[in-house]
Amino acid sequence: MPLPYLQDLRHCAGHDLDGPLAHTRPALQRLKAAKGKGEYAFLDQPDRTDDLAAIEAAAARLRKFGAIVLLGTGGSSLGARTLAALVDGGAGFWPKGTPRLVVAENVDPFGFGKMLDTLDPADTGLLAVSKSGGTGETLAQMHAILPWLEKAGPLSARACAITEPTDNALSRLAGRHAIPILEHPPTLGGRYSVLSIVGLLPAAILGLDIRALRAGAAMARDAALDDPATSLPAHGAALAAALVHKGKRTTVLCPYVDALAPFGQWFAQLWAESLGKGGEGTTPIRALGTVDQHSQLQLWLDGPADKLITIVARDSRDAGPRFAADMLADGALDWLAGRTMGDLLDVSWRATAETLARHGRPVRILTIRTLDETTLGALLMHFMLETVIAADLFGVEPYHQPAVEDGKKLARAYMKGMGAKADNG
Ligand code: PA5
Repeated sequence: MPLPYLQDLRHCAGHDLDGPLAHTRPALQRLKAAKGKGEYAFLDQPDRTDDLAAIEAAAARLRKFGAIVLLGTGGSSLGARTLAALVDGGAGFWPKGTPRLVVAENVDPFGFGKMLDTLDPADTGLLAVSKSGGTGETLAQMHAILPWLEKAGPLSARACAITEPTDNALSRLAGRHAIPILEHPPTLGGRYSVLSIVGLLPAAILGLDIRALRAGAAMARDAALDDPATSLPAHGAALAAALVHKGKRTTVLCPYVDALAPFGQWFAQLWAESLGKGGEGTTPIRALGTVDQHSQLQLWLDGPADKLITIVARDSRDAGPRFAADMLADGALDWLAGRTMGDLLDVSWRATAETLARHGRPVRILTIRTLDETTLGALLMHFMLETVIAADLFGVEPYHQPAVEDGKKLARAYMKGMGAKADNG
């Protein structure tokens, strides 16, 4: 079966990839040798079947609610958001009969309050996800929502927690409320967890084909590791490294697909948190075509020449509403007459890519025939591999994020200080 996506580096031809590409070989060999051995847990998720029964049973239990609130942040929420966009198009257009996934990542009291005001606890299920079981935001949300949800009945029937099998704050809280706990694979990092129960349980609740997601990922992984000369993620990582040598330290991901907008958020976290270490890394920018043609494109074309722009485009020719032939009569619109909205999207990304190339800006184009579970699984695996191969080229460890701990410690200290002030006041 052919890969469900293609990578076109035609507009990057001026950047010599051969050197960095040769340096991707050790990483590819290591990943290939590790496959199936549990050493890099994200690599082995696509082949798992042992967790499917538990995922499907929990999904069946939660699917009967009209809305599912997912509490989690970073790697514990962005994968679910990305997969859910296959159902709601990334813009909240939920089909009738499918539960609405409401992802609550933040602790903005105004947004959180509004969410609770618009939901009916009797028709709401809860999924709390935290690998460590100790993330302050997720635990705070959980404490805030449980009394509200408990009014509607026992939590054992309407809630579920995913966390690693340790004695942690989330598992203790879930235990106190008889909330079933499902296991977060202990060796799998949050931002690499989308193809585990972390992404697949929300996906299964929404009725997505979780086996196809894994099959697409397996296909992309095997193609990437089997032949270093044609490995698409290795070429992507080599391109990033080649551009860093030329001072290009910003990477823009611009899908021309609404349903891939959350994919951009997922990618930004993966890339930033995995690579931004010891002065290394490149800065991810999320964008959406055609919208950002009217927002950021001017900067990409004529601002600092420090960017790689990756366009992701789906075949959209002939798709969607066809514009009326009488538009011909209006000189300003005659170029649209008789064409479709999909044609407009198609020429837009092609014209943008070509214009960027003419301005000497490197553009990579990923094309997909269709956006379904197989394709999305393949794209997710592509970028996880590209990230860890790039980490090897940059000489950084992609699976931890030590620098963010300092801010967390300081926030706790501030909070304690606030408590003392309130007591005295
Ligand atoms: O990728 C990561 O490891 C992080 O972004 C985590 O996913 C995020 O900090 C949330 O952590 P946890 O799942 O432990 O609550």
